[in-house]
Amino acid sequence: MSLLDGRRDPARLALVMVGLPARGKTHMARRLARYLRWLGVSTRVFNVGNYRRERLGSHQSHDFFDPDNPEGREARREMAMAALEDMLAWFASGGEVGLYDATNTTAGRRRLVAERLRAHGLDVVFVESVCEDEAVIASNIRQTKLRMPDYAGVSEDEAVADFRARIAHYERVYEPVDESEGSYVRVVDVGRKVVAHRVQGYLPSRLVHFLMNLHVAPRSIWLTRHGESTFNVENRVGGDPGLSPAGERFREALAAHVGGLEASRKDMRVWTSTLRRTRETASAIGLPTEEWRSLDEIDAGACDGMTYDEIRDQLPKEHAARRENKLTYRYPRGESYVDVIRRLEPVILELERERRPVLVVAHQAVLRGLYAYLMDRPPKEVPYLPVPLHTVIRLTPITYGCEEERFTLAPASP
Ligand code: F6P
Repeated sequence: MSLLDGRRDPARLALVMVGLPARGKTHMARRLARYLRWLGVSTRVFNVGNYRRERLGSHQSHDFFDPDNPEGREARREMAMAALEDMLAWFASGGEVGLYDATNTTAGRRRLVAERLRAHGLDVVFVESVCEDEAVIASNIRQTKLRMPDYAGVSEDEAVADFRARIAHYERVYEPVDESEGSYVRVVDVGRKVVAHRVQGYLPSRLVHFLMNLHVAPRSIWLTRHGESTFNVENRVGGDPGLSPAGERFREALAAHVGGLEASRKDMRVWTSTLRRTRETASAIGLPTEEWRSLDEIDAGACDGMTYDEIRDQLPKEHAARRENKLTYRYPRGESYVDVIRRLEPVILELERERRPVLVVAHQAVLRGLYAYLMDRPPKEVPYLPVPLHTVIRLTPITYGCEEERFTLAPASP
């Protein structure tokens, strides 16, 4: 069953990437995959370039991609079909959303791929990435393509020239997706414009929404729990307590830390939950804060305000059930981690959309959910991810993921 919406029937959706080289297809495919996995959908990316590198070696010069080179054309077709067959086998073993990451620049190739997928009962949506912004293309070539094994040991100028020649080969045959081909989403200049044609159904529409919010502007996301609360000192869950003396020291240390950040600090957005401990923690920073109810701590329902020992002694069945499956266990009249993940979705979309740095001051369970999304960790790990008190986590998106740094500021009570 998917975590997404309690569906018992798995989704069966193939997203077929389309676009010239260096248009951010792989980036987009991986971001979509990360989002889907976080929602609990079984998802995998099949990258045809990797098949080529693994099976034929990575050092192919641009001639290999020349549409007039019959050997290259045939070899590329074989690689594309090998990846497609693997994707079909993966769907047959229960996969839900497969992303077929290749250029798929001609209508003929797309027809071949889509017919094969549809014959297996899969819905097909083309995801076409068009880039008219020369600066984005140039930066993409330098940041990702030159680091590919294809150009190991080759000088930068030579590599750029070869890659540009490779793009030119594809340009000669490129046919943008046409309405007659079926459902598609066309993303122009990383979300500046998004066109959706016959994209229907719950999951595909959510993916369009997600693509509309994506960007590649560099900025950091900072995550921290509130300063230690009086409940933390007593090992109590939930409630709406204020900060302990150690928590107050963290509030000052956090303000000093943020104050010492790079010039961008003035545009930093600071988000808190609606609970007192996060609002108090953010109060010394001196920047406007925004309260999100979706960032409130997991609702412990009937256990709210109890210590972990009291729960174990007074409600042993609840304690045992939670130990058995902490991800899906729902507190009586409260929430589970799955519930928390679901309500974090608007926060994720806003984080994706935002170009300024964001500091999220929230709670343990909620931050585990956000961290799992940003670091692509599977739902089953969420309830156990280490998010200690008084530790500020800085996540900075890099090419295909995030770089992580942790800063421990004022110590919490022993
Ligand atoms: O103990 C602090 C706290 O934020 C509680 O309010 C919350 O119930 C708990 O952490 C979540 O962590 P876990 O799921 O590990 O109990």
